[in-house]
Amino acid sequence: MKILVTGGLGFIGSHTVVELQNKGYQVVIIDNLSNASLEVLKGIVAITGKSPIFEKLDLKNKSAVQAFFKAHQDIQGVIHFAASKAVGESVDNPLMYYENNINTLVYVLQELIKLKVSNFIFSSSCTVYGQADTMPIAETAPIKPAESPYGNTKQIGEEIIKDTCKVNAQLNSIALRYFNPIGAHQSAKIGELPIGVPQNLIPYITQTAIGKREQLSVFGDDYPTSDGTCVRDYIHVVDLAKAHVIALQRLLESKNATNFEVFNLGTGKGSTVLEVIKAFEKVSNTKLNYKIVDRRPGDVISAYADTTKANTVLGWKAQSTLEQAMLSAWKWQKVIN
Ligand code: WQD
Repeated sequence: MKILVTGGLGFIGSHTVVELQNKGYQVVIIDNLSNASLEVLKGIVAITGKSPIFEKLDLKNKSAVQAFFKAHQDIQGVIHFAASKAVGESVDNPLMYYENNINTLVYVLQELIKLKVSNFIFSSSCTVYGQADTMPIAETAPIKPAESPYGNTKQIGEEIIKDTCKVNAQLNSIALRYFNPIGAHQSAKIGELPIGVPQNLIPYITQTAIGKREQLSVFGDDYPTSDGTCVRDYIHVVDLAKAHVIALQRLLESKNATNFEVFNLGTGKGSTVLEVIKAFEKVSNTKLNYKIVDRRPGDVISAYADTTKANTVLGWKAQSTLEQAMLSAWKWQKVIN
């Protein structure tokens, strides 16, 4: 069974390709290599021994998207990761984000309708909730005005899919709202490869520990939390990848209750920045060099998932602890240096 994974050489995409191949799916990857390298393809093959079909293609090119689907009419499902995802960059360059994250989604959906491909998994984000009023955050939590153009593209993306599914009953979709994906495959052959200075906490921690960065700046310790630093739900990327395969199987077996479903993917546990640092120091047996600085604009105080729906309806539960995830990130950092 052939499954298309757009953005399949990215951090979550590549781990999902591995899990799809482990389950016997034939995988086609589309990636424009704007935020990934072909080395990742080698890593996937090194883990599974199977070569996905790879097409370097920019989904902003509508005619190229049409040509691709013409050549792959046997696709049974699509997992759509391809998008830009740096919150700060999206504030500075909103039009690049709206073009890259919205136009591409529209072009892919147009081809799925034409081809009558009926299974579509969308990479969404807990960012759609903004600063939720109550913790943990359930799928029923109100969607608040996005804190960034990036978050807005995820909100708009879900609306586009919902509206499309309403008038195309044969299209079945699931939006997966990730909390904070971290870590790397236990083989240390694939992992997170931030380009330039890492925006996210975990790669900045591991790059500091390996000496690539001077010191970690902790963005504020005056928040109303247990130790003053922000709370997030850090989920191992392999747990996240497995959830994508389960969600796809749900659609392939027509087990979905409606033709547009949403699931939060997190561990259900919130950790402060200082707790993450402590976990890292424990598993790496190193002392991390960090300092407290001012808050980062746009940060929410706290965000962690109510995982009841994913656990009971999807039949999926995150397995890895924060420490296991941090250890996998550290093992990976030592490989890529
Ligand atoms: C986590 C915590 C920072 C870096 C974003 C997107 C989300 C998803 C993941 C794509 C915060 C603190 C961070 C640093 C720090 N991206 N921090 N020093 O902002 O929760 O989520 O990335 O899907 O959609 O919103 O992740 O890792 O940037 O920050 O103190 O150098 O670590 O303030 O509290 P975030 P993050």
